[in-house]
Formats: sequence, structure tokens, C-alpha cells
Amino acid sequence: MKVEFVDLKRQYLSIKTEVDEAISKVIQETSFVGGTEVKAFEEAFAAFTGVKHCISCANGTDSLEILLKAMGIGPGDEVIVPSHSWISTSEAVTTAGAKPVFVDTLPLRYTIDPAKIEKAVTPRTKAIIPVHLCGIPAEMDEILDIANRHKLFVLEDCAQAHGAEYKGKRIGSIGHAASFSFYPGKNLGAYGDAGGMLTNDDAIAEKAAMIANHGQKGKHNHLMEGRNSRMDTLQAAVLNVKLPQLGKWNELRRKNAALYFNLLKDLPTELPQYPDYSTPVYHLFVVQTNNREGLMQFLKEHGVATGIHYPVMLPMLPPYKGGHNEADFPVSVAYQNRILSLPMFPEMEEAEIQYVAETVKSFFKSK
Ligand SMILES: Cc1ncc(COP(=O)(O)O)c(C=O)c1O
Repeated sequence: MKVEFVDLKRQYLSIKTEVDEAISKVIQETSFVGGTEVKAFEEAFAAFTGVKHCISCANGTDSLEILLKAMGIGPGDEVIVPSHSWISTSEAVTTAGAKPVFVDTLPLRYTIDPAKIEKAVTPRTKAIIPVHLCGIPAEMDEILDIANRHKLFVLEDCAQAHGAEYKGKRIGSIGHAASFSFYPGKNLGAYGDAGGMLTNDDAIAEKAAMIANHGQKGKHNHLMEGRNSRMDTLQAAVLNVKLPQLGKWNELRRKNAALYFNLLKDLPTELPQYPDYSTPVYHLFVVQTNNREGLMQFLKEHGVATGIHYPVMLPMLPPYKGGHNEADFPVSVAYQNRILSLPMFPEMEEAEIQYVAETVKSFFKSK
């Protein structure tokens, strides 16, 4: 059997008629940027997340950077980010002109460790970016408590967690603002790059919308310099077809995860852990094992694709080296060479999950 890491084709085939129609309509109307599709998506996604404003933009990296700028963060400021994430989280801080300050993560939850945040706060700190990595919510109550005490913004990086919930609240509705990516492989993915900036704060929303559209407040009214970071209409049309299915797809991811939990529980792999009050959406299903390279190779030889998210933690990447060392991030260091992402997507068949689990089992038996 061959098991893909993510098979986007299956999802496309399940919504082919609606997607093809929506794309064709945009082409026939030759309205390719902005317009009613984009507006409709912004409104629907804001309502889905439970937030007043959703401003669309070109991708999830721009979304982080623009929101930081809209919060007035720039040169001379520091922003706290987790040591373990996709580079966009820290890159956006740098491109906004500020300095990312890395904080270690929780062992099997992969989100920023709130107990270690306070030590990283300085008079220059302006914001914390918790990342709901792998679809598991970060510990928002503790993070907000620290932020409130130090008067910091909290910008949620929700690129991997559309629809996840923390204590009954949708992630993206908890901090001062939230950034989403709609990259094709995400839980809610477009058919190209796209991003969304969400907030209940009118001032942040207004500034973010201006920055993303050349500093304009209304046509030709450039109150500042901004940039071009717009969602194109084709992406919005696809997202409008897909959003109503997101709840069902996330449920299927949780069902797949439950099966993995059950089938892998007695093996020498450590499985994700999260508290009862969190409802994750399993963008990734990450296990930890001492023989990661061996297991990865064995799975590959048996037709199972896997991934590593991510092989090098952020502070150890070339752009951030210096000023800190591995010992500053003991938890991220401990799992960095042990993490392995197994295939995970809503349309996976039970037989495929069973095959992945059986293959993992035979690997450990052969040792
Ligand atoms: C945690 C995280 N933040 C930000 C991004 C950036 O999103 P985009 O690729 O749309 O720029 C990603 C995308 O992979 C991500 O995983």
C-alpha cells in the first residue's frame, strides 16, 4: 500500500462540481482581485471564528507582519515567539523591524511554555505570538495573564489550527488579533497563497486593511505607504466553497487521530498530549521516537510518506544564531531529533491509518 502524507486530490474530487463552477464564474466575470467573493469570505470567516473583522491578504506570513505593524510594533521592539514553529512566525517579526525573542515549548504539545515567557519580557517587549502548532491550542489563559500584566499584545498564529477550540472558544478569537494562512495544505486551504487577519479591535483592523492595500483609506486616499498584499478572487471563491466543510473535515481529522492514538498506544512512540479543555484540529499528527531516522526510512520503504515539522528549531537557524544556545531551549532540543509527522488528512481511509500503524509496529518488532 502507498500512503501519501497529504492527498489534496481526494478533497478536490469531493467538491469538484462546486469548485469548478466557482472558479469558472470568477473567470467569466473577469474580476480577479477583491470583489464580492472576497468580501463574502471575509464575513463568513470572521463569523466562523467569532471575531468582528477579517481582513484578507496574500498569505499567512504577510498577515503576521502586517498585524504587527498595525499594532505599532517596529524597530527597537521585541516580540516573544516560540522556539519551535515554521519560520514565518519569527521572520514576520524581523520584517516588521522588531526582534524575535525565543521561548521554549511544551514537550508533547509543541506550543510556547507559558511558565518560561515572563523571564523573556524586557522593557522593549511589545507582543507575544503564541502559535497553535500542529492544530493544538496554545495555553491562552496563562499567556493573556502575562500579556495583561505587562501590557503586551497577543497575536495568535493560527496558520495550523483553523477551527480549533480552547476552553470552548475558537482560536483566533482570544488574543488581540490573529493571523491565518490559507496555503493549500492547511486545514482550510485555497488553491494558491492566501491569508487572513482577524481582530475585534477596530483600530488594528483599519490600519491592517490600509497597510495591505497601499495605505489607502478609500480609493486613491493614501494616508500612508503600505504595500500590496491582497487575496485574489479565485482564492476567495475556492475558500467560500470549502469553509462550510471545515467543521466536518476537522471532525474527520480528530477521528483519524483517535484511531492513531488507539493503534499506537503501546509502542515506543510518544503521542501528542493536550488538556481536556482543548479541542485540537490535527493539522499534523506528530509522534516522538528515539530512532526517528530509522522509522522514517522504514516507513518510506513501505510506501508511507512522513515529514519533519521542523528539523531545526528557530533559534538555531542561521539567521538567528548568536546570543543564545541550545541549552536555553531544553525541551525543544530534547524533541528536535525525535519528532516525526505521520500522514494526516481528513479523507484518509481507516485501512490507510491501520497500515501506517501496522508498519510502525513492525519497525519496532524488527528492532
Ligand atoms: C505556524 C505558521 N505560521 C505562519 C505560516 C505562514 O503562512 P503562509 O505560508 O501562508 O505565508 C505558516 C505556513 O506554513 C505556519 O505553519
